[in-house]
Amino acid sequence: MVLSIQDIPKESLYQKKVLVRVDFNVPMQDGEVQNDQRIRAALPTLRYLQEQEAMIILMSHLGRPKGEVKDSLRLKPVGDYLAKLLEAPVTCLSETVGASVKKRLADAQPGDIFLLENTRFYAAETENDPAFAQQLAELAEVYVNDAFGAAHRAHASTEGVAHHLPAYAGCLLKREIEALEQLTQSPKHPFAAVIGGAKVSSKLGVLEQLLPKVDVLVIGGAMAYTFLAAQGISVMNSLVEPELFDTARQLLASAKTHNTQLLLPVDTVLAAAIDAPDATVTVILSELKAEEQDDLQDLTGVDIGPESIDAIGKALEPCETVLWNGPMGVFENPAFCHGTEAVAKMIAERTAAGALTVVGGGDSVAAVEKLELADQFSHVSTGGGASLEFLEGKALPGIAALKHT
Ligand code: 3PG
Repeated sequence: MVLSIQDIPKESLYQKKVLVRVDFNVPMQDGEVQNDQRIRAALPTLRYLQEQEAMIILMSHLGRPKGEVKDSLRLKPVGDYLAKLLEAPVTCLSETVGASVKKRLADAQPGDIFLLENTRFYAAETENDPAFAQQLAELAEVYVNDAFGAAHRAHASTEGVAHHLPAYAGCLLKREIEALEQLTQSPKHPFAAVIGGAKVSSKLGVLEQLLPKVDVLVIGGAMAYTFLAAQGISVMNSLVEPELFDTARQLLASAKTHNTQLLLPVDTVLAAAIDAPDATVTVILSELKAEEQDDLQDLTGVDIGPESIDAIGKALEPCETVLWNGPMGVFENPAFCHGTEAVAKMIAERTAAGALTVVGGGDSVAAVEKLELADQFSHVSTGGGASLEFLEGKALPGIAALKHT
């Protein structure tokens, strides 16, 4: 079991410098934070460290600057945002390591909070360069990783540095591990997974891993069209991955073998384009006659229809555990968000009925936040790729490098 900051003897934190890796990789527009889920999620760790009068040195990446300094990816606006949430000053430094950083930290007082500059302004970060990791470690006496969203990356700030300091999980990282382990190790049955999103390829690992474990598997979003097309159903101009038709057929067969109820959309909302103002028609793709197919061939699938929503609702009704990853349609377009919204509400109802409900993945989390339903799920993960890799059963380097019992 991973050790967390609560396992650190208080005297090892009291007035000590603690280097905390957070995932402040948040959507930004014109220097403004667009979604603060990840910043708010770091607060319990920061508050705990403040109580111990630690000197907090935060570090994070933002975007993918690939070893170059990009002014639009500086962390200062995020630091300012954090200062408002904490109602405490946050000193943003314009570098991550080096003499000037050390000099600023030398004057640190108990309770001070610093935010280092974007770790990815240094190529050494993503190369997990041991010398860079060592430079980071020299800034503090203890290392805390609270960046669940980046725990699948073996980078200097998420993995390398943990080999140079006593290394512990933050409150968020611990909570994420506990919630996801409940799903992978001891889920209450019936257990449903609702998986959506654009591409089967990005969810293949998780589908293969979950199929034998779940009682119900709902596949929605554009990835469903690959499953339909693989069975010979015409999906018009919808997104498909023909190279995965065989894999899709194998997954369908595997569901039968494991007695897993696999639900694909019964009806589909078709539109001229994903950014069209309205849907053109809702159809049952498998029942379209040849001439109807000819008329609709330029249209693309953008959402699941009402019959699919009903079927998913019935399948979820008895479920004690529900995992949701990926939207059911192009939810960013208000005209095509109904399937995603309905699924979000049905899963939230399961929470109210006592089920464990977990949402992971950037898009479904964004949908839940947009619908203001985040507090109606047992756990809303801050990790996209990280939560998928965790559910695939992979060891995440950022977790593996920490102290364990
Ligand atoms: C994320 O947003 O999923 C994490 O912050 C990781 O970012 P990355 O995919 O750029 O490594």
